[in-house]
Amino acid sequence: MVTSEKSPKPSTKSAEFSPGEHPSTPESVERSPDEHRSPPESTELSPGEHRSTPENAELSPGEHRSPLIQLKKVTFAYPGREPVLQDLDLAFYAGQRIGLVAPNGSGKTTLFHIIMGLLKPDRGRLTLFGQERRRERDFVEVRRRIGLLFQDADDQLFSPTVIEDVAFGPLNLGQSRTEARTTAEKALADLGLADFADRVTHQLSGGEKRLVSLATVLAMAPEVLLLDEPTNGLDTDTRQRIVEILNRLDISFILISHNLDFLSQLTEEVYTLTAGRILTDQPMAAHQHTHVHAHGTVPHEHR
Ligand SMILES: Nc1ncnc2c1ncn2[C@@H]1O[C@H](COP(=O)(O)OP(=O)(O)O)[C@@H](O)[C@H]1O
Ligand SMILES: [Mg+2]
Repeated sequence: MVTSEKSPKPSTKSAEFSPGEHPSTPESVERSPDEHRSPPESTELSPGEHRSTPENAELSPGEHRSPLIQLKKVTFAYPGREPVLQDLDLAFYAGQRIGLVAPNGSGKTTLFHIIMGLLKPDRGRLTLFGQERRRERDFVEVRRRIGLLFQDADDQLFSPTVIEDVAFGPLNLGQSRTEARTTAEKALADLGLADFADRVTHQLSGGEKRLVSLATVLAMAPEVLLLDEPTNGLDTDTRQRIVEILNRLDISFILISHNLDFLSQLTEEVYTLTAGRILTDQPMAAHQHTHVHAHGTVPHEHR
């Protein structure tokens, strides 16, 4: 079944702020202290359950050794079409930073939308943060803990002004208006967008919208980021700023990009999606590039 492709954010908006409302305060955008980023032992994206057994009970909060995101034999087709994802397996662990490179139309965006519950698999199982997720209400928590940067910024932004868009998530999380405004200002400042607060969203350039979208996601302080072609429309300096920001954060992410240089600066491994499945048997280590590739989007290795 196909559900709305729209942003998970409802389209009501009401985050008006009066100027000068700034509280003197709380750093609510700080990332959670990190248990997440630590284990380099789990850098493979294995389809397997070998680390996900319930016997992980000896790890107190339990959750850290089991995958944060697990898909088992997930199949999905848009109505009247051949399946885009076919028996797809994925196990993504806390601390991982992986890249996903595959040609246009191979189902990368669809995969992210399935994880967020925006599309429902026709078959297969989705387990997120240790719980199977099926119904709409199962995804409320998921959307709080996983931040999706939409491929198209217009799916992400819907408020009249930038500050309202960025404060929307924190308000939804229960912050007061002043707290939400502070959180939003900090998220904007972190991205070098301090001056953007009162800009009119629909007047922004594509690249500016992209950055503001990232601010809306980071303002929610998610545990995991799903980044769908985040550098589209961005100049080199801005791209570099994103690399620095992401590398500074203790956060796990899956990053879809066609830019291998960008991927190599941020991810440990890069996978591809072929015939509806993620190929996990031959992870390719992301490597430093200083040149342009003639190989298009096909991942490859230099020897
Ligand atoms: N809403 C939709 N309805 C029908 N087909 C769709 C829809 N969205 C995407 N598709 C098709 O599904 C395939 C996978 O799309 P997508 O997940 O966006 O791929 P990618 O992100 O890898 O470019 C493509 O063939 C695309 O045309
Ligand atoms: Mg896409």
